[in-house]
Amino acid sequence: MQTKHLLFPLLLLLCALAVAMPMASQTSRADYRIVPLPDRIDGVKGSDFRLTGNCLINYSTGNREMERNAQMLSQYVEDLTGIHLSIRPTLASKDQAGNITLALDPSLNNDEGYRLTVTPRGVEVTGKTAAGVFYGIQTLRKSLPVGTCTTVNLPPVQVTDSPRFVYRGMHLDCSRHFFGVETVKRYLDIMALHGMNRLHWHLTDDQGWRVEIKKYPRLTEVGGWRDGTVLGHNSAVNDGIRYGGYYTQEEIKDIVRYAADRYITIIPEIDMPGHMLGALAAYPYLGCTGGPYKVWGQWGVTDDILCVGKDITLDFVKDVLDEVMQLFPGEYIHIGGDESPRVRWQQCPLCQERISNEGIRAQGKQSAEALLQGWFTTQVQHYLAEHGRRIIGWDELLGCDVDTTATIMSWTGAEPGAKGAKLGHDVIMTPNTPMYFDHYQTKNYWNEPTAFGGCATLKMVYDFEPVAADLPAEMRHHILGAQANVWTEYITCEPQIQYQILPRMAALAELQWLQPEDKDFQDFMTRLPRLVEIYKLYGWTYRARSLTHPDEQ
Ligand code: ACM
Ligand code: ZN
Repeated sequence: MQTKHLLFPLLLLLCALAVAMPMASQTSRADYRIVPLPDRIDGVKGSDFRLTGNCLINYSTGNREMERNAQMLSQYVEDLTGIHLSIRPTLASKDQAGNITLALDPSLNNDEGYRLTVTPRGVEVTGKTAAGVFYGIQTLRKSLPVGTCTTVNLPPVQVTDSPRFVYRGMHLDCSRHFFGVETVKRYLDIMALHGMNRLHWHLTDDQGWRVEIKKYPRLTEVGGWRDGTVLGHNSAVNDGIRYGGYYTQEEIKDIVRYAADRYITIIPEIDMPGHMLGALAAYPYLGCTGGPYKVWGQWGVTDDILCVGKDITLDFVKDVLDEVMQLFPGEYIHIGGDESPRVRWQQCPLCQERISNEGIRAQGKQSAEALLQGWFTTQVQHYLAEHGRRIIGWDELLGCDVDTTATIMSWTGAEPGAKGAKLGHDVIMTPNTPMYFDHYQTKNYWNEPTAFGGCATLKMVYDFEPVAADLPAEMRHHILGAQANVWTEYITCEPQIQYQILPRMAALAELQWLQPEDKDFQDFMTRLPRLVEIYKLYGWTYRARSLTHPDEQ
């Protein structure tokens, strides 16, 4: 007995020593050639700065945002290297030698820009705003080697950087399949690593309503659940398994806060007047025929949409948006507007009465029903504007005569975006090829998880240019940025989401941050493996074949 007692702790001690010993002398070196590549990396003469567990992270006393930035940096360094750095509130005048200092400098010219300075004496991450500092921290993080060590040598450098676009988005459809709070938070973590700042969150659709609305509890009690899900691409077989879920308002607030801590604004999408079966199943009076309706267990576009002939529908929409605005503080609300067939409106006496009462008449190629969608959208747009908000809508809105305060999301191709910008709309570019990440990553997709179809290789994503070559210079500012969309008809779990977005998000990040003349695909491919080391560290799934076959058509 007694020997056993002694032997076990001894063995443990030996094991611990065996693990700890090689660490003791481990040193590795930072490399600032990361993804996305910073605007400038100017090497400076001098010896390396030695980052060890004795370094502190300084931030200005009393600045909560900078304190959070310091905590994030400390966590990142520990994740990557195992080195623990304490954080310390300081006065600017305090001696910063030997440490990392986070600082603000209002003289920088881009709100999200930053400067990362490494000298033999220390490291300084400076931003015009705390968001800029956060991006500088991401760069420092990505420059570190992955692997436990006791010292990282940082070559002296001045890195200066700022993003090309103000809107750097990712979209996530949580209606077709529902993903819990932790998955959404990890999605936000992945976005933060890639320097992205807008999550377009698709929360309602024919297959499920996912946001709790207190005034209309049936939206989630009934509209959040379907009886079963079709197998594959609308086969004749349905799995018959009840499926659903939704986010409580408390969960949404938690996610919005988590995003804001990472300088990501969440733009909720409440898709209307189409893609509304979730709501119609819950409140059939919102439809033209009165139902009954069922939450859909298949994919596609249904003819059953909101009846906009009824005032009660407009009241419903405004009530829902009141609660949505409470939950999401950002300026934009996405109101969808895509894929709204008008066959019910053609038959509905109330919708026809609305057309007649509002004096709506067909004009050229625009039917009266198309312009009825424009009338409805305008009501919503004005209501949101009264509350200081703006709408984003899919590019179908260009055919509905909405005014130019609506921002257009160009998805059916790149052309509607250019057209919208010429008309004076702000535009976000998300053309389905190559910006739909639910599409395949190769044309040889036999071994791939089932996806929507299409193909967007890593190289195709990299090469995408959001600003059309023939867009006149004075209209270019309307292109706010680019976004990739992740529709989840065929994506059922988190590893599959990650597989679809990684490493394509790396290519997207590079086009969101770099000026077109600075892009270089071959060079990007040499920098990508180090980013992938971080994916591996966090256990994120990614498509490894894209690293060796980035353009397999
Ligand atoms: C869309 O893909 N229906 C916007
Ligand atoms: Zn109607």
